[in-house]
Amino acid sequence: MTQPLQQVDASGRLRHLVTLDGLDAGLMRELMARARAYLCQPGQLAVHGDDLRGWTVANLFSEPSTRTRASFELAALRLGADVVNLDVMLSSRVKGESIIDTIYTLEAMQVNVFVIRDAQPGIVESVAQQVGEHVSVISGGEAHISHPTQGLLDALTIQQLKGGFDNLTVTVVGDIRHSRVARSAHRALTALGIAELRLVAPEEMMPESHEFQGARRFSSFDEGLAGADVVMMLRIQKERIAGSVPTDIGRYSEHYGLTAARLARAKRDAIVMHPGPMNRGVEITSEVADGPQSVIRRQVANGVAMRMAVLAHIAEARRRRAS
Ligand code: NCD
Repeated sequence: MTQPLQQVDASGRLRHLVTLDGLDAGLMRELMARARAYLCQPGQLAVHGDDLRGWTVANLFSEPSTRTRASFELAALRLGADVVNLDVMLSSRVKGESIIDTIYTLEAMQVNVFVIRDAQPGIVESVAQQVGEHVSVISGGEAHISHPTQGLLDALTIQQLKGGFDNLTVTVVGDIRHSRVARSAHRALTALGIAELRLVAPEEMMPESHEFQGARRFSSFDEGLAGADVVMMLRIQKERIAGSVPTDIGRYSEHYGLTAARLARAKRDAIVMHPGPMNRGVEITSEVADGPQSVIRRQVANGVAMRMAVLAHIAEARRRRAS
């Protein structure tokens, strides 16, 4: 039996980032502080660095992704890395090559970091267990299980706009059962000490009762919204619902869609988040998505900064181990 993955090294620095489970809140705060240094005002030139000069990052995405993949690619490029993007599904699996052969092939081409998105639970960790000593693995989203950089960028967004985490009520709404974004948000925000996490979903989209420890569950959106500081909307994960009862989109939208009238039940200064891609008119109206309380584009900007922070941290930890 393989040992559970150790994603931090002996000095508590990240070697891999596969999950936020067990990740220390101090380390999360350090990554947020590092990410803030990479942010700039819209219209300014992007911040660059050379922390990854000489490194090669391979993005292996076997599920569709525009923003996460572009975000990792820009983060690596802006830190001076060489980047290669591979659609694993189209290349190796179709030819019958196992994923680990693809990894070894790329390792032989001097890849130092693999960013992996896959629909199969366990793949990211299994690759991390098998790569060479000098190679790191970062999850770009694993099945419904975890999306660690998304959890961190969401935490950063909340920290920026709310000034911290104490006393905050965060309401997560929608297809929580199939959402890696919600699971990673739960990990991050619980570790960072928010006051209350609320889950709002119809029965078929609620996670199992043993999951999301400490969260309060609501079937009524209006009740779950009352007094919330942060409203995090989620996309219906149609690709993961296969086999279960089909959701009536019109009905869903009526009960769980975020409209301006409904948003008025949250705190006046509540912020609205969505990881994208959005189904406008289903889980959120355009009026809210593009309105003054929406921080959706801020999340995207923070995503690149957070991925730069994670990459720079991993590179620094590797240099420390090597010296
Ligand atoms: C999410 C994902 O792929 O997990 N999007 C993202 O990473 N920005 C959410 C989703 O697909 O609904």
